[in-house]
Amino acid sequence: MDRRLFLTYVGSSTAALVAASSGIGALTGNAMTGDHLINGQPSGKGKSLTSPFKSISRTWENDVVLPKGYNYSIIASYGDKINSLGEKFGDAADLTVYFPMDSLKGGSNSEEGLIWVNHEFPEPENYMKILGINESTFKKENLANYPELLKMEKEAVGGSVIHVKKEKDGWKLVVDDTYNRRVDGNTLIELTGPARGSKYVNGAKTVVGSLGNCSGGRTLWNTVLSCEENTEYGDDYGWPNFTDEHYGWVVEVDPFDPKRPVRKHTALGRFAHENTAMGLTNDGRVVVYMGDDKGDACFYKFISSKKFNPANREANFDILESGTLYVASMKEQKWIALDHATNSKLQEQFADQADVLTNARAAGKAVGGTLLDRPEDVEIHPHDGSVFLALTNNTGHGNFHGQIVRFVPANGDHASEAFTFEVFVAGGQQSGITCPDNLHFDSKGNLWVVEDFGASETNQYAAYKNCGVFMIPTDGKQYGEPFQFASGPKGSELTGPWLTPDEKTLFLDVQHPSTWNQYPGQTFGRSCLVAVQGGSFK
Ligand code: FEO
Ligand code: CA
Ligand code: CA
Repeated sequence: MDRRLFLTYVGSSTAALVAASSGIGALTGNAMTGDHLINGQPSGKGKSLTSPFKSISRTWENDVVLPKGYNYSIIASYGDKINSLGEKFGDAADLTVYFPMDSLKGGSNSEEGLIWVNHEFPEPENYMKILGINESTFKKENLANYPELLKMEKEAVGGSVIHVKKEKDGWKLVVDDTYNRRVDGNTLIELTGPARGSKYVNGAKTVVGSLGNCSGGRTLWNTVLSCEENTEYGDDYGWPNFTDEHYGWVVEVDPFDPKRPVRKHTALGRFAHENTAMGLTNDGRVVVYMGDDKGDACFYKFISSKKFNPANREANFDILESGTLYVASMKEQKWIALDHATNSKLQEQFADQADVLTNARAAGKAVGGTLLDRPEDVEIHPHDGSVFLALTNNTGHGNFHGQIVRFVPANGDHASEAFTFEVFVAGGQQSGITCPDNLHFDSKGNLWVVEDFGASETNQYAAYKNCGVFMIPTDGKQYGEPFQFASGPKGSELTGPWLTPDEKTLFLDVQHPSTWNQYPGQTFGRSCLVAVQGGSFK
């Protein structure tokens, strides 16, 4: 795209529309320019970043389409056996976090490691076909009468740990490995933090299962944070004996130690968690940025009480159990602490801190958190520490294409109360990208972005065809210019982009393809984890 056109676009009425519809700019009266980067370098005038591949074009092709020279292989698909217990790879693959096999020794093995994959939701219509249940007579309210279906649904969600290895003919799952295991709808999970055992979670200290695992992130001590993107799935799923308040938390899993309990950290609040981006404050505490994936919902950060200990992994396992949760006010350009002890607005509406955390969406709104257009993935720029947040869309007030917003913490410190921000990329015809969802940075600071929309040949997304993957330089002449790297099979979204440390493999998940990668004996497609190789990613 012509850089001048882009600037014109961003600087004109369309940007104003985007800003107004997202609550950005309209509130502050200005969208900040890039003069506030942590390293003091203005956007677009720094090191030139360019695309290492030739962009592909939008396509309806029912395949994972890649630039010339790149290829993909499937590592695991829904229903594949992953260990000798007979546990299976779950459905609706999302986040992929690659842990080099030598991670705990500080290594960066890019040819063997453990991968955590989220399994976001069950696909009961597909399981009914497998089980031979007549969909037309089935009623969700009677799900308890279909134990096999309920079992399949519960075993489809949560996440998988799998051991993977790069072979001559592509990446392979190491079957029957002792690391390979599932967290699913039946796993016993401990609650930690202020809401543990409180009346807001029905007194529970342990809950059953994790579900709605959308995206997430990696901690500095090599565990995974898997985000439950739901707070009201009881009615949605029809699962019997379901307590909504047991879900909608951030879940921590140690892929290297199957015996370590899986935990949900209530200190990080309960909402439709999309993902986590972890960094450090200047004094060594942990910051976790998080979006609440819903239209008109807020952007949050958590700052731990304890400092990160890089020398002792074990010392960090309780770090997410206590700290302060903040919500972003774009109007004030500052973070507001969701602290019951000091905030009179919270004291008026909530009984105590456990109440605030269990109902963090309402608490965020109560203190003046800005309502955004589906805040999804957030990532921290590897070089300047600015924070990129994908706002996918908000069709309810006419923002169909979303945008990516770049936040700059004051004083170059994630602990700062103040921040500035700008729209980095606005979705739509000019930029060529729409509905940004998961984000991932490469080592140069290029931002990899996947899309989440449902195009038909007649709806407003028709011109965008199948969901894609883009790389967007965050500096230099091509600042903010998306290059399309991949296109997903029909009906799918590509999720969970994650590069190996050597940046020779890009892992991606294919979620809900209509017919591609068919389930054996069926016509519906299967979600899977793929490895993309063959060319350069930087
Ligand atoms: Fe599960 Fe927010 O996409
Ligand atoms: Ca997502
Ligand atoms: Ca999504």
